Amino acid sequence: MDIKDKVVLVTGASSGIGRATAELFIRKGATVVLAARSLEEVKELAVKMPDTLAVAVDMTKPQEIQQMVQETQAFYGRIDVLINNAGQELNTSMETINVDNFARLMTSDIYGPLVAMQTTIPLMKQQGGGAIVNISSGVFQTAQSTSLQAASAKSVLNMISLNTRTEYIDQGISVSLVYPQEPEADVQKPTNRRTVTHTKRQADMPKLDSPEAIAAKIVDPIENGIAVDFL
Ligand SMILES: NC(=O)c1ccc[n+]([C@@H]2O[C@H](COP(=O)([O-])OP(=O)(O)OC[C@H]3O[C@@H](n4cnc5c(N)ncnc54)[C@H](OP(=O)(O)O)[C@@H]3O)[C@@H](O)[C@H]2O)c1
Repeated sequence: MDIKDKVVLVTGASSGIGRATAELFIRKGATVVLAARSLEEVKELAVKMPDTLAVAVDMTKPQEIQQMVQETQAFYGRIDVLINNAGQELNTSMETINVDNFARLMTSDIYGPLVAMQTTIPLMKQQGGGAIVNISSGVFQTAQSTSLQAASAKSVLNMISLNTRTEYIDQGISVSLVYPQEPEADVQKPTNRRTVTHTKRQADMPKLDSPEAIAAKIVDPIENGIAVDFL
C-alpha cells in the first residue's frame, strides 16, 4: 500500500511507540488520527504535526472505541490503516498480582483491540481493503515471572490477530503482529505461505528496539501489502 494520503488511526499515540509511529506515517504523507486517553497531550501533538486529528479514547471502554472509529470515519470518510498500539505494563510477581488491575489490562490490551477491529473491518470491507497492525510483545515468548500479566494478555491478542488474519486475508485486509523485543533477543517463529517472519535483526537496526525502530517495523507490512509477524 502506498502510504501517501492514506488515513491511519493510531491508538496510544501520545508517547513511545505510538507517537514514533504517528510521526513516521506523517513523514510518509499519511493523514493520522492520534488517539489516547489524555486528549490534551494528543491535541498538543496534533498542533505540531500536519494532517492529524486528536481523539480521546479509553481502550477499556467499547463505546469510546466505537466513537473513535466513527469520528475518524465522519472526519476523513475512510480508514485505511488501524494500529492497535495502546497498552500498559504491569510488572509484578504472581503473589502480588491485583486481579482488578490485571482485568483492566486484559480489557485494554485484548478486548480494546478486538472492538477496534470489529468496528473498523466493516469500513475496510466497504473500501475494498485495509491494513491492521496489532502491537504484541516479545515477552509472550518468555517465562519471566514479572511478565506474567503482559505475556498472558499479548498471547491472547496474538491468537485473536492470527485468526482474524485468516478470516479476512482474502478480502484484502491484512492483519500483522509486531513484537517489540528485549535487547539481544533472537527467536524463531513458524512461517506459512501467507506470512513472512523476520527472525534476525536487520543490520541497520539498533539492537535495542527503540520506538523509532519499532515504528519502522509497523510501517513495513503496510507498505509491502502482506500480513507479517515482525519480531
Ligand atoms: N516499549 C517497549 O519496549 C515494549 C515492549 C513490548 C511491548 N510493547 C507494547 O507496545 C505498546 C506501546 O508501548 P510503549 O512502550 O510505547 O508505551 P507508552 O510509552 O507507555 O505509551 C502507551 C500509550 O498507550 C496509551 N494508553 C495506555 N492505556 C490506554 C488506554 N486504556 N486507552 C487508551 N490509550 C491508552 C497511553 O496514553 P494515555 O495514558 O494518554 O492513554 C500512551 O499513548 C504497548 O502495547 C506495549 O505493550 C512495548
